[in-house]
Amino acid sequence: MAETLKGLKRTVMCGELTEKNVTNTVTAMGWVQRKRNLGGLIFIDLRDRTGILQVVFGDEINKAAFMKADLVKSEYCIAITGQIVTRQAPNKNMPTGMVELKGEDIRIFSESETPPIYIKENLDASENVRLKYRYLDLRRPDVQRIFMMRHKTAKVIRNFLDDNGFIEIETPMLTKSTPEGARDYLVPSRNFKGKFYALPQSPQLFKQLLMVSGYDKYYQIVKCFRDEDLRANRQPEFTQVDMELSFVEEDDVIDINERLIKKVFKEVGDIEVNTPIERMPHRIAMEKYGTDKPDLRFGMEIHDLSEVVKNTEFRVFNDALEISGSVRAIKAEGCATMGRKQIDKLGEFVKTFRAKGLAWIAFKEGEIKSSILKFLSEEDIQNIKEKMDAKTGDLILIVADKNSVVFQSLGELRLHLADELGILKDNHEFRFVWITEFPLLSYNDEEKRYQAEHHPFTMPMDEDLQYLESDPGRVRAKAYDIVLNGEELGGGSIRIHDTTLQERMFKVLGFTKESAWERFGFLLEAFKYGPPPHGGLAYGLDRMIMFLAGTENIKDVIAFPKNQNAVCVMTEAPNVVDDTQLKELGIDLTEKK
Ligand code: AMO
Ligand code: AMP
Repeated sequence: MAETLKGLKRTVMCGELTEKNVTNTVTAMGWVQRKRNLGGLIFIDLRDRTGILQVVFGDEINKAAFMKADLVKSEYCIAITGQIVTRQAPNKNMPTGMVELKGEDIRIFSESETPPIYIKENLDASENVRLKYRYLDLRRPDVQRIFMMRHKTAKVIRNFLDDNGFIEIETPMLTKSTPEGARDYLVPSRNFKGKFYALPQSPQLFKQLLMVSGYDKYYQIVKCFRDEDLRANRQPEFTQVDMELSFVEEDDVIDINERLIKKVFKEVGDIEVNTPIERMPHRIAMEKYGTDKPDLRFGMEIHDLSEVVKNTEFRVFNDALEISGSVRAIKAEGCATMGRKQIDKLGEFVKTFRAKGLAWIAFKEGEIKSSILKFLSEEDIQNIKEKMDAKTGDLILIVADKNSVVFQSLGELRLHLADELGILKDNHEFRFVWITEFPLLSYNDEEKRYQAEHHPFTMPMDEDLQYLESDPGRVRAKAYDIVLNGEELGGGSIRIHDTTLQERMFKVLGFTKESAWERFGFLLEAFKYGPPPHGGLAYGLDRMIMFLAGTENIKDVIAFPKNQNAVCVMTEAPNVVDDTQLKELGIDLTEKK
């Protein structure tokens, strides 16, 4: 019984009707949220993406329509024509609760089977079912609000960048591998069997080429593809707000982006972002928070105890200091009463980050308890207490190891404790910070060579350039990340536009001239023709929406996301393809499922 429109026009959206509309004759179209038949009266809650409108049919106006209204069930798609009237029993909890639509006619466009998930707010259904029936999940009002917010965010960003002289230019999806460091998604070529396109991990090289071409302010809201292990804030395909500017230094990029962030958070989320946003050098972030994306909504900073404990009897501490590691600690305020079992659990927790153990000192009322009491003199304990600014009632948690392990385990422990202690429970802060002065290179222990921390086109800081060959690990980069509440929202850098410097950089990274040209020849060639000084930044748009929507799951903000195994459970992609397709591509499978 599928009826068609036959000239019928929708004249209103359900959620927009108020007392101003009383006496209007309107036609609304949407889905049945629910229907109740109270004998002489039939109530239908009609839903579209703007809200819900109560419709009431009596049998006195149009008997046929009344009978038809009684046929509808949840999620039928219908149209109703009638008059807006004042509701006799107003519902203050509904935006349209002061009025109702007195149904005169009804059309049933399509019926619906009982949906496998309820179409309601804050649904508590299994993720797998929600993803399999994502088109129904997307009907839910709270989910719809996220996508309207996502649309608005993109619009505000476009308007802002347009107002500031940026132009949007599309870059290719079928391209050559880009250097962002994740695994590529590959697309086989039919014309050149055995050759592959790579889907872009970012438009990085193309946007730099656009600078060479003179499009001095570029942006793009663009899909990027990375085959990496998925987490709550990572998807294999995600969206970047990507930009690049010519004739700029770090401060210029940071300034325009602070204005962008301020505008977006205000207009979309009514969130006031104070600018200038705090900046923190990478070294400080690591030392105080053990991470390059610190959550500054709470303290519990890491303190260095190396100096204080260097003369203790504890072998573990001495061993760490001998290998140029350190002994560092955090203070859990008021946690001296924490039970042994709970502290042991914290010890297990840090072990998952390769720490060998967790020493602790509890400053209890009238006594001091510690897992390493026998190794510490009274003076040692006093010194630690002072260094940590500890008071009676506090618990000190200590890790000794090489620095990378100390930082990571204490940084994670800090977040874990904040979570366990509920420190951020009622916190609604949006705490931004720019992390600057990143190391240009990091040493890859396995491959015994330096690798680019960001990508090989990042400009070293002027004052560190002299160490590029002699002490590469010491060189800092003109790179910056924008971090919000402990998450990396975006990142970028000033790029190298000097071919000689770029060649030095490749050399330090262990590329031969040939291998560098093989991978990035087109960029190096372009840089022969007057490249301007340039730099840029890219945001993860999905992550930005997560903050604005207040969700911790990136899947919530992507219309058709993949699950944790990078599978689309709705379409069942990835999937097998025909043998003929494979043959055409010259692909022979060694493993078949
Ligand atoms: P970067 O690799 O830091 O920089 O990426 C920029 C931002 O993209 C987001 N992001 C992701 N979001 C969801 N899922 C993923 N798998 C994912 N990976 C990254 C993050 C990140 O901050 N070309 C450079 C930018 C530049 O230098 O201009 C780049 O891609 O929020
Ligand atoms: P042990 O003498 O091995 O029983 O260790 C005494 C305490 O030191 C225990 O609480 C261990 O968890 C802790 N510990 C062991 N290794 C380390 C380490 N690398 N850093 C900090 N504490 C450690």
